[in-house]
Amino acid sequence: MRFLSLLALGGLASFASARSARYSGKNIELPRPRHGYPMQPGQAQAKRETKKIIAQNEKTAKFAVNGSAGAIPDIDFDIGESYAGLLPISSAPNASELYFWFFPSENPDASDEITIWLNGGPGCSSLEGFLQENGPILWQYGTYKPVYNPWTWVNLTNMVWVEQPVGTGFTQGTPTANSTEEAAQQFLGFLKNFIDTFGLCNRTIYIAGESYAGKYIPYFADAMLQADDKEYYDVKGIMIYDPSVAADVLLQEVPAVPFVDTWAGLFNLNQTFMDDIHNRADECGYTEYLDTYLAFPPSGKLPLPANNSKVPACSLWNDITNAVLLTNPCFDIYQVATTCPILWDVLGFPGSIPYLPDGATIYFNRTEVQKAINAPIQEWEECSNGVLDTDTSLDSSIVVLPRVIDALDRTMIVHGDLDWILLGNGSLLTIQNMTWGGIQGFQEAPSDEFYVPYHDEVSLSTLSAAGIMGTTRTERKFTWVSQSLSGHMVPQYQPSSAYRQLEFLLGRIDSLSEKGTFTTTPATNGTTKRDVGIMSERSLFDRVEKWV
Ligand SMILES: *[C@@H]1O[C@H](CO)[C@@H](O)[C@H](O)[C@H]1NC(C)=O
Ligand SMILES: *[C@@H]1O[C@H](CO)[C@@H](O)[C@H](O)[C@H]1NC(C)=O
Ligand SMILES: *[C@@H]1O[C@H](CO)[C@@H](O)[C@H](O)[C@H]1NC(C)=O
Ligand SMILES: *[C@@H]1O[C@H](CO)[C@@H](O)[C@H](O)[C@H]1NC(C)=O
Ligand SMILES: *[C@@H]1O[C@H](CO)[C@@H](O)[C@H](O)[C@H]1NC(C)=O
Ligand SMILES: *[C@@H]1O[C@H](CO)[C@@H](O)[C@H](O)[C@H]1NC(C)=O
Ligand SMILES: *[C@@H]1O[C@H](CO)[C@@H](O)[C@H](O)[C@H]1NC(C)=O
Ligand SMILES: *[C@@H]1O[C@H](CO)[C@@H](O)[C@H](O)[C@H]1NC(C)=O
Ligand SMILES: *[C@@H]1O[C@H](CO)[C@@H](O)[C@H](O)[C@H]1NC(C)=O
Ligand SMILES: *[C@@H]1O[C@H](CO)[C@@H](O)[C@H](O)[C@H]1NC(C)=O
Ligand SMILES: *[C@@H]1O[C@H](CO)[C@@H](O)[C@H](O)[C@H]1NC(C)=O
Repeated sequence: MRFLSLLALGGLASFASARSARYSGKNIELPRPRHGYPMQPGQAQAKRETKKIIAQNEKTAKFAVNGSAGAIPDIDFDIGESYAGLLPISSAPNASELYFWFFPSENPDASDEITIWLNGGPGCSSLEGFLQENGPILWQYGTYKPVYNPWTWVNLTNMVWVEQPVGTGFTQGTPTANSTEEAAQQFLGFLKNFIDTFGLCNRTIYIAGESYAGKYIPYFADAMLQADDKEYYDVKGIMIYDPSVAADVLLQEVPAVPFVDTWAGLFNLNQTFMDDIHNRADECGYTEYLDTYLAFPPSGKLPLPANNSKVPACSLWNDITNAVLLTNPCFDIYQVATTCPILWDVLGFPGSIPYLPDGATIYFNRTEVQKAINAPIQEWEECSNGVLDTDTSLDSSIVVLPRVIDALDRTMIVHGDLDWILLGNGSLLTIQNMTWGGIQGFQEAPSDEFYVPYHDEVSLSTLSAAGIMGTTRTERKFTWVSQSLSGHMVPQYQPSSAYRQLEFLLGRIDSLSEKGTFTTTPATNGTTKRDVGIMSERSLFDRVEKWV
């Protein structure tokens, strides 16, 4: 749902740039190239500038966004061809409408795809993901201005960010959905109109998202499969980050105390309190539950834990969060390696607590921005109340997700190690309770390396990691990744990792452990040399200034 940065690299970068007057090397800000995908040899620039990917007609024209540098407030680089606006959720008169922003990709491998991104909440806008995670424009919290994102998913595939369900962001109409099935019907209705408008029938569909979208996406994919309509709903893969897939007791309470032990230095809780939460985790049955059921292969179906947060003595997640907000008042439930100060955020939601410094404005709440992106002129908030307050649908892991895994080519759950709003061990417990491909859970503990290709850094404003960035496992078409050095919003904290994960979802690479380059960057010789640990050609280290 919400936001921070890579402390290690971010710290390094700000250290280096604070001293930039003394740095004699070049510090290139990358202007937005014409379109995302690297140009092929012999491809003429002039031709690219006139040729549009999407057919230009009266249906599409009214959604066109002027992507020239300066056309959208504060965006001083070209964002390429895109379309945005409202489309209804059905053909009924006065039907409610969802807001979308669509970027066709120049990548030739994307020609038969549509990839959808959804944020969670429920009620949180997917424009958060657009602006702070995986879109072509990146304006992350604490940063001075928006920059071109070299890790934009548009480099790989045709991306559409959709605000849903009705009641969220710029959507129009009264929120009526009381179940994820109803939200799915809204979404499928919208998608049909979207596909008809842009002439995108018979495309392969991929859906990715995070948090509460871990509930939406399996249900939406399931509804598409049930619709049995390949012209509109030919879904082939889904990827959910730090998902809401099971009961809170599994995702928060049961794994809470071992998480605090793992990251004890970041919680800095006193010994009396630590002893107390350990005793309570034992007495509430959480310790034994985790020991018994986080097993590979699983020992049997997981019963619902006898205790949960409704029993005050067993409400550990709340009590720990309360305590850590004393030792670290800027503790970010979405990324535990965060300390004070609270940084400003152009979307108003930098961490655990919404915050907007005096005089600051929220980007999508600005009238000029709304005009530039075909949005209705109205108030906009990152997360809106009153959306799906009642969601009568079962957790997505109980019935829907297992059968979706069996039907799709690829299903992925990726979980950031530093996330405290939903815990990685909770996702693993959930996985061990699912039966797919006729077998329950993973048969072996995840231990394969998740490898992110080495790459040249083009700009200090968009640094991202390389090397072994987590642990992964694939069994029976289902893939898990435990993502290193990431909070809740993986594409925000680890954009190069997320880019690699998308390559896998789209079937562009065969394995997350393979050690090739990105499919969109030229091969380099750096990889093997760097693997043996001699960092002789690494450029960032050269920029570090060791003043004491
Ligand atoms: C995305 O495309 C741009 C423009 O061609 C390129 O500079 C950038 O390196 C690409 N990103 C990746 C990760 O391939
Ligand atoms: C697009 O925006 C640019 C920059 O503001 C402007 O110069 C150009 O005239 C606009 N194009 C159209 C078709 O409105
Ligand atoms: C449709 O909208 C118009 C104008 O707002 C309103 O008068 C009419 O009652 C609406 N019809 C329905 C079916 O909601
Ligand atoms: C959804 O819930 C609201 C509030 O509980 C209720 O007023 C409404 O009738 C429900 N809608 C449907 C379609 O069940
Ligand atoms: C989609 O594919 C089907 C089967 O190949 C074909 O009959 C149909 O005309 C296609 N639809 C469009 C709009 O191209
Ligand atoms: C996850 O659970 C395993 C098994 O109980 C434990 O060893 C590990 O420390 C836990 N990890 C975290 C981050 O809590
Ligand atoms: C539930 O928690 C209470 C303490 O609040 C404890 O007495 C009881 O044994 C726990 N139940 C189980 C099954 O662990
Ligand atoms: C485990 O899955 C079963 C369905 O197979 C479900 O009834 C049960 O509630 C699940 N356990 C947990 C803890 O979610
Ligand atoms: C230890 O932490 C707990 C929880 O925050 C707090 O109530 C207690 O006062 C702390 N003890 C000391 C000595 O600060
Ligand atoms: C959003 O914009 C409206 C209209 O300009 C303004 O009244 C409101 O205070 C703004 N909201 C925030 C949170 O800035
Ligand atoms: C890779 O190494 C080979 C042999 O040393 C060299 O000929 C080639 O130019 C290098 N390629 C790149 C992209 O550096």
